[in-house]
Amino acid sequence: MKSFEIKTKIHFGDNALERLAQMPYKRVLVITDPFIAKGPMIKLITEPLERSGKAYEVFHDVVPDAPIDKIIIGVKKMLEYMPDAIVAVGGGSAIDSSKSIREFALGINHYADVAMVAIPTTSGTGSEVTSFAVVNDPVAKIKHPLVSPSLTAEEAILDAELVKSVPPAITADTGMDVLTHAIEAYVSTNHNEFSTALAEKSIEIVGVFLLRAFLNGNDTHARQKMHVASCLAGLAFNSASLGLTHGMAHQLGANFHIPHGRANAMLLPHIIEYNADIHKDSRSQSEYHPSVKRYSTIAHVLGLSSYNKVMSVRSLIQWIQFMNQDMKIPARISEIGTISVNDYMSKVETMAEAALADACTATNPRTPDKEAIMQIYRNLW
Ligand SMILES: NC(=O)c1ccc[n+]([C@@H]2O[C@H](COP(=O)([O-])OP(=O)(O)OC[C@H]3O[C@@H](n4cnc5c(N)ncnc54)[C@H](O)[C@@H]3O)[C@@H](O)[C@H]2O)c1
Ligand SMILES: [Fe+2]
Repeated sequence: MKSFEIKTKIHFGDNALERLAQMPYKRVLVITDPFIAKGPMIKLITEPLERSGKAYEVFHDVVPDAPIDKIIIGVKKMLEYMPDAIVAVGGGSAIDSSKSIREFALGINHYADVAMVAIPTTSGTGSEVTSFAVVNDPVAKIKHPLVSPSLTAEEAILDAELVKSVPPAITADTGMDVLTHAIEAYVSTNHNEFSTALAEKSIEIVGVFLLRAFLNGNDTHARQKMHVASCLAGLAFNSASLGLTHGMAHQLGANFHIPHGRANAMLLPHIIEYNADIHKDSRSQSEYHPSVKRYSTIAHVLGLSSYNKVMSVRSLIQWIQFMNQDMKIPARISEIGTISVNDYMSKVETMAEAALADACTATNPRTPDKEAIMQIYRNLW
């Protein structure tokens, strides 16, 4: 038996933030990062709270990649303030931190059912609708993916006004994270008709609007579309799960602080090549790996379809490489400039072991072994 559920009520479109004034909660802990707390954006959140007479406090000790020590401080804050709702405002790091803070705090003292309202300010992770949160242990250099239905937010507010200030490099990284979520969900061994429909629409939107949002951050239409695409991809992978790109990207983030979306963008062409078993010199075959059909359909959705499956998969890989190039995402780790070859190569084996054990890798359409993963990491140099 399979089940499909959307637990999160999604508010979107014009004036979506008005939900903050309408929601029934009375005592709100806003969790965000210092950039948002100190900038003009926070007013868009606190004004409707004030206008509707809600008590609130802002906790802004969140930093990228949700490190454990900051989560512990947030847990303490929540248990002191005892809110009836958390409003999580920010990118995936702020939303993931908020999810973990609520989970751990209520595990210590379940004083009430505390609601979570997630408000993304990047169009990337889809964390506002997923039952996942990533917690980073910077000492052990491990990113722990937490998975539980209780992590899912009750409500999400999608307001593209909050995304306009995202600089081009972060628009590129987070946008490619959306594409990776949608593609990995689409070819996952757990895919189903519901996740497929959601992923397909997300891929179609990314194909049309990501470059537009990158080139002009004030293009409201493109921003709105990408914000919805991010949420659709989140719903898709919440149901179908992800794949090896994420399994390997988590290790690049934990070891070398490469932003999550950027690591995915760099790995994605390599993983498609590996999964499809189609390389530069591949010719038409009588039989293909089952993922080839699905990658070909993705190429078709993007308008890249070619006269045979090999060409379709190759054109998909090339399109991703062009997108990366146009958005100045490096093709190779060596281009980043801050990582030494010795340091990188010395970590390839431990990264491969961790990627093999990563929960995302389990639903990859082709089952990799350690040597195959090590080879992909080496090729990425
Ligand atoms: N829970 C999930 O389902 C899920 C899925 C994928 C990734 N993740 C996790 O999410 C994290 C990445 O999230 P992210 O890619 O959104 O990046 P992020 O939250 O780390 O933010 C990146 C940077 O963008 C800045 N920023 C955020 N909103 C902005 C705005 N409106 N204007 C200007 N700057 C802004 C932040 O201050 C930060 O410096 C990683 O830890 C990753 O592992 C979670
Ligand atoms: Fe991701």
